[in-house]
Amino acid sequence: MNYIIVDTYKELSKKAANIIVSQVTLKPNCVLGLATGSTPLGTYSNMVEKYNAGDVDFSKVTSFNLDEYVGLDSLHNQSYRYFMNENLFSKINIKKEKTFVPNGMAENLIEEGKEYDRLIESFGGIDLQLLGIGIDGHIGFNEPDKVFTAETHIAELDDSTIKANSRFFNSEKDVPKQAITMGMKSIMRAKKILLVANGKGKKDILEKAIYGPIDPMIPASILQLHPDVTVIFSKE
Ligand code: PGA
Repeated sequence: MNYIIVDTYKELSKKAANIIVSQVTLKPNCVLGLATGSTPLGTYSNMVEKYNAGDVDFSKVTSFNLDEYVGLDSLHNQSYRYFMNENLFSKINIKKEKTFVPNGMAENLIEEGKEYDRLIESFGGIDLQLLGIGIDGHIGFNEPDKVFTAETHIAELDDSTIKANSRFFNSEKDVPKQAITMGMKSIMRAKKILLVANGKGKKDILEKAIYGPIDPMIPASILQLHPDVTVIFSKE
């Protein structure tokens, strides 16, 4: 594991964007796995800057997002589809029809999960997966559990996740209690993984995940088994 520690969020964002842009430069038709949350925002704005400067072309890229809230449609301003459209997809030349986010409004969420995995597989899997980490150690919405779940599945959100994410909603009770999330199989089959974590609040859980036992109660610890992981942590 390549563990990079930087002083500022600005540095983290630049480095993460450089890695993603390098991936797209090396393989223009690559498959990117993308993440939501506060941490990737700076990465996305650096990617947009590089696109505006003419340094990168996303027109052949396909993307798969990690997760989506159950019950929020794509126009809801807290849905992850909306987040991605607003913060990245509408600002670069990726083709909208090549951007995939699980559908949290699907009538049959189990079938939606299966179809999502099939779709990822049909593109040959993910070349570079971007991840954040939750304060409970989640990646995507793979919450602490007795087992690691392989497939895309419905996750019951942890109280700590609901609390953390309530900052984006009017109140805690408005936060959806479930999400549909990519499972560990598609994440671990990604050729490269880039995990970004920002600030002191993430240090303990990050280091438990990197150095502690591999334990589904710390979902990110499974990344120790992956051959090509880069972690960027910014102190503030
Ligand atoms: P954050 O979320 O970037 O908003 O801290 C990370 C996560 O929950 O995966």
